[in-house]
Amino acid sequence: MAKAIVSPLLERGEYHPQHVLGIVGSSSSISSALNDLPKEVKVVSSEDSLSREVWNAPLKILAVKPQQFNKIKESVSSFQSNDQFPKPLLISVLAGITLERLTKAFPGHTCVRAVTNTPSLVGQGLTGLAWEDDITLDQKKVVRKIFEPISEIYELDEQKLDSFLALTSSGPAYIALVVEAMADGAVAAGLPRHLSNQLAHKTLSGTASLLSEKRLHPAELKDMVASPAGTTISALRHLELAGLRSALIEAVVLAAQRSRQLADEVSS
Ligand SMILES: NC(=O)c1ccc[n+]([C@@H]2O[C@H](COP(=O)([O-])OP(=O)(O)OC[C@H]3O[C@@H](n4cnc5c(N)ncnc54)[C@H](OP(=O)(O)O)[C@@H]3O)[C@@H](O)[C@H]2O)c1
Repeated sequence: MAKAIVSPLLERGEYHPQHVLGIVGSSSSISSALNDLPKEVKVVSSEDSLSREVWNAPLKILAVKPQQFNKIKESVSSFQSNDQFPKPLLISVLAGITLERLTKAFPGHTCVRAVTNTPSLVGQGLTGLAWEDDITLDQKKVVRKIFEPISEIYELDEQKLDSFLALTSSGPAYIALVVEAMADGAVAAGLPRHLSNQLAHKTLSGTASLLSEKRLHPAELKDMVASPAGTTISALRHLELAGLRSALIEAVVLAAQRSRQLADEVSS
């Protein structure tokens, strides 16, 4: 996720590769982290003494797993300085870790919570942002500029971020599952595998474009496709019976609950 955020900024020349320092957990991950990045970017492991340099930087992006948060917090506490003004920015993309937790862990920083999603990898992401009250207008601009090349930005109350994540960050996995299952259905109905996968992808992207370009409500599109006593309405009857709609509703609610729970699990 860190690379998805940083790479477009380097490609657009917003930051110079020499000014970027990446930190990974173990030295065995360095080469894969460096893949596709300009050669001037440095990546070191958290055990390397150079990793402390990052705490002098005016801007940090924290993109470890939520379960790794406590370790980071402990290992950096001695490197942080509390007397810079304006305070350096720390942008966290960790699911479930609240601004309050971030501020306690990184007291010398102005903390920002960003919830972004994997379509950011192709510049079509969505990012929800919540920040501390003491953030300056210039710092807000810096944060927006980081996420603008990869996503549409939504500034939200922090308590809405878990629901935002449940829909937008976890959403690509739900959609991928649906697309895969539709392709399996086409194979079961007699089409070759490769063609089924290709057609399922195209059906997804074409439907998404139709919904957004014609500004259709999903129900309108469904009604347009389902003709009386036709094939689609027969299929829809089955999907309703199997509970597809309810399963997706509950999936989003559960993902939001899990995001809130993660914060408790990693609490110190
Ligand atoms: N994946 C998504 O779709 C998505 C979307 C939105 C937000 N997020 C959030 O983004 C965060 C990262 O997700 P990800 O999928 O990018 O995870 P990831 O691929 O596992 O990346 C985590 C990185 O943190 C490094 N790391 C671990 N311990 C460290 C330490 N002590 N010091 C420095 N670096 C350390 C890991 O290095 P090693 O591999 O060497 O351990 C790895 O490079 C998560 O908190 C997740 O909630 C993810």
